[in-house]
Order: sequence, then C-alpha cells, then structure tokens
Amino acid sequence: MGTWSTTPREGLERLDITDARAVDEAFAAGRFDVCIHAAARCNLDDCERHRTLASTTNVVGTGHVVEACRRTRTRLVYVSTDHVFDGAPASAYVETDAPRPLQHYGVTKREGELLALTLEDALVLRVPLLYGLAGPDEKATFVTSTLERLAAGQPVYADGEQVRYPVLVDEVAAVLARLAEGGVGGVLHFSGAEATTKYSWARRLAHAFNLDVTLVHARKESSLAARPRDNRLGSTRLSALGFEPPLTLTEGLDVLRHQREAAR
Ligand SMILES: NC(=O)c1ccc[n+]([C@@H]2O[C@H](COP(=O)([O-])OP(=O)(O)OC[C@H]3O[C@@H](n4cnc5c(N)ncnc54)[C@H](OP(=O)(O)O)[C@@H]3O)[C@@H](O)[C@H]2O)c1
Repeated sequence: MGTWSTTPREGLERLDITDARAVDEAFAAGRFDVCIHAAARCNLDDCERHRTLASTTNVVGTGHVVEACRRTRTRLVYVSTDHVFDGAPASAYVETDAPRPLQHYGVTKREGELLALTLEDALVLRVPLLYGLAGPDEKATFVTSTLERLAAGQPVYADGEQVRYPVLVDEVAAVLARLAEGGVGGVLHFSGAEATTKYSWARRLAHAFNLDVTLVHARKESSLAARPRDNRLGSTRLSALGFEPPLTLTEGLDVLRHQREAAR
C-alpha cells in the first residue's frame, strides 16, 4: 500500500498520519511487514512559518506511525534528512555525530528520528538533496522545473552558496528497498559524493540537455529558515554493509537523459 494525503495519486490510498485512528485502521490486522515512512512537511520556510503544523505532521504524525508499527510488529524505515545537522562539519558527518538542526524542519525531523528509534529494529536513513524527474501528474522537481524553464527560454535563478550533495531519488528507492528486507537498524547515511550548489547543478543540467546555460543565474536564497552552509554526509555504514557508492552527477545526468527519452 502506498499513500497520499492531499494530492490524489492513482493506485495509492488516502492516509493522513495526523489522524491517529486512520493510521490505526491502515495498519489493522498486521497487514504490513515493513513501513517506509517518508510522509512529512518538507518545505523549510513553510515549516518555519507554520511551526505547529510542521510539528503536528512531522512529530505527532510520526508518533502515530511509530505506535502502529510497535503494536503490529511492523519494521519501520524512517526517511530523514541532512538538515538534522548545522552545516559546519570539520569532515563529513557520520552517523554517530550529534545532530544540531538550525531550523524548525530539522528539529521536527530529528524528533521523528528519536521516536522511530524507540522501536528496536527501526532504521533511520538520512539523505541529502534528492533529484529526479517528475511524472506529468506529479509535483515539479528542481530538475523538471529547471529543464522546463530553460526549454521555454526563461531565466533560472538558483542559490550559489549552499553546498549540496544531490543523490538520485531512484538510487534512494533502491537502497530503501534493500534495507526494508531487514537485518540493519539504527541510523544510516546515504549521500551523493560530489559537492555542488543549486546554481552549478542547474548549469550542469543545461549543458547535459543542450539548453542555454546563459539563462542560469546565481542568487543568494532569501530564506526565512536558517540554511546550513555544508551538510556533507559520510555514508560509512552503508559502505561497510557492501552497498555500492552512489552515482556521480555525470552518471546521474545520463540516467535522467535516458529516462526523459524513454518517457517521450
Ligand atoms: N526532497 C529532498 O531533497 C529530501 C531530502 C532529504 C530528506 N527528504 C525526506 O524525504 C521524505 C519525502 O520528501 P519529499 O521531498 O518527497 O517531500 P514532498 O514531495 O513534499 O512529499 C511529502 C509527502 O508527504 C505526504 N504528506 C504530507 N503530509 C502528510 C500527512 N499529514 N499525512 C500523510 N502524508 C503526508 C505528502 O502527501 P501529499 O502530497 O498527498 O500531501 C507527500 O507524499 C520526507 O520525509 C523528507 O523529510 C527529502
């Protein structure tokens, strides 16, 4: 079973995790072996502006999912974020480093992690900026909106300061599917290894798709939420478990090009 809460999606069922009874009903009769919990309010400024709403979904809602997993002995895999860190690492953050979120989104995701980790075999997977294509009926991603604007000859303004380590969402899905099988608990990091800014990333997208790179402009993101300068995650545990390193950005761009062609 997959779920949506405000945007209906074919083949998925409606579930609002802030509704304890609805969560209980969804988990009725121990129908799941594993729950991959990725539902959250994710927009940093939105979470800063609407702190109570963000906490209700990301913390209270996660609490409902955790308790349902506990009651039905369902394994929980909780998708978390590099935003639990403060962006000033001496070297890449490893799984044992102490979180120190700078903004309310990070605070709520850290609280969600702590709730998840009250389950004995729960797994928390922290990922950085994700990238990928969106389908025609899906919310635009940074990649799809950048490509659309450039194709239409419109300028793209992207942050040129915050250092990011994007990872292809399809790779995250594959890692989650393997981890869902069990055997690994606690906190794990999975991150791209290449540093970039959204500005440099948009320029690489333009080059890769033969679009006009001069339409891409750097700007300092004006943000309500504090943004970490550099939240590099080290994927030490995953490497030790024998997982392949993530694709380079060049390889990821190849995947995006193939996916786009296949979708035409
Ligand atoms: N995107 C990134 O770069 C990134 C990076 C690190 C970690 N993450 C984590 O990855 C997960 C997914 O993020 P995303 O970028 O895919 O975010 P997204 O596009 O905003 O998706 C969030 C999902 O949560 C659902 N949701 C929101 N409120 C809900 C509620 N009350 N009950 C049930 N479902 C609810 C949404 O459903 P509707 O659309 O139907 O409302 C949507 O499917 C999150 O846990 C986020 O913290 C994302």
